[in-house]
Amino acid sequence: MLKDQSWKVYNPGGDRRVIVTRQLPGERWLKILTQADCRVDVRTSPEIPSIEEIISAIGDRCSGAIGQLTETWGEELFSALGSAGGRVYSNYAVGYNNVDVDAATRHRICVGNTPGVLTETTAEMAVALTFSVARRVVEADKFIRKGNFKGWLPTLFLGELLSRKTVGVIGAGRIGAAYARMMVEGYKMDLIYYDLCRNGVLEAYIAAYGDFLVSRGEEPVACRRAESVEEVLQIADIVSLHPVLDTSTHHMINAERLKSMKKHAILVNASRGPLIDEEALVDHCRNNPDFRAGLDVFEDEPELKPGLSALDNVVMVPHLGSATGWTREGMAILAAGNVAGILMGYPAWKKGSSLPFLEDDPPKAAPSIVNSEELGISEYAG
Ligand code: DGY
Repeated sequence: MLKDQSWKVYNPGGDRRVIVTRQLPGERWLKILTQADCRVDVRTSPEIPSIEEIISAIGDRCSGAIGQLTETWGEELFSALGSAGGRVYSNYAVGYNNVDVDAATRHRICVGNTPGVLTETTAEMAVALTFSVARRVVEADKFIRKGNFKGWLPTLFLGELLSRKTVGVIGAGRIGAAYARMMVEGYKMDLIYYDLCRNGVLEAYIAAYGDFLVSRGEEPVACRRAESVEEVLQIADIVSLHPVLDTSTHHMINAERLKSMKKHAILVNASRGPLIDEEALVDHCRNNPDFRAGLDVFEDEPELKPGLSALDNVVMVPHLGSATGWTREGMAILAAGNVAGILMGYPAWKKGSSLPFLEDDPPKAAPSIVNSEELGISEYAG
């Protein structure tokens, strides 16, 4: 087991043992685990751990683990965790494309994630990127810092007006729908979205908002589910990507699809980098200076494809979609709740919002276990 200086042990006498591959924000998550009688081994090094290091941390006695989207949790790790007596792994993220859930299920290990606490936070980052690119905030900031501002000019940094234009959303789940509502309600944009499933709640919400506008003597807003990704790309002035990353969505934005977008379009990605063929995006932005992109995520994080950072029509932030204190502490509470809940034999929560887990007297359930049905974990009925 661990002798390494880069791991810190809390509650060393705990009956169960949980490893956590990164220090997490807040204190409540740790309390949740220690109250579940867990010794908690937390890796303190800022480097991304290798698979070998995680296997060595798991050792021969480990009941559960909390890991990060920067780690590949596949057969090797789940086999090690299963052999050490592990029963649960939680990703410290809502997305779990870094986790081989089938492998976990084969080893009878529950997989948790952290939905609900990052919906608005990530959608707000997509909005921030949208306006940063539309109004050229970063280019203008650099300009003024260089001392280039010599007075108001009629043509200085002209950008795009978004009000009453059309926003396109690909993937209208929790975060995509929250972004859509922000853009429609905030800027009276029409919405065109593509998703395999119709989002009736979103459509009804926008229809009601349209009725409200009409009642105030204004034009309504429109909302429509497109037949295809292509339709969204051709029609929308802004396109924000929110689908899950899997083999069907990998490089869904490629050279051909970029060409089909409007010349002045804005592309935003706060989901997962490999949704976009980043080399094709570099080419497209280089050859189409009026096209703009706002990126929170990258194809080969933390690396950028050559040429990307030289482009003034691209604004980038380093995967910060969920980066607010409230959200990151909430994610830690949910991840700890997943691990502690399964180890305590609690049922799985299937009642929608996970926000009750942030309250003082949280439900006695594991907040979000994605393979609960496959593993026969009962559903919370309280
Ligand atoms: C997630 O949770 O999937 C984000 O990408 C990280 O916050």
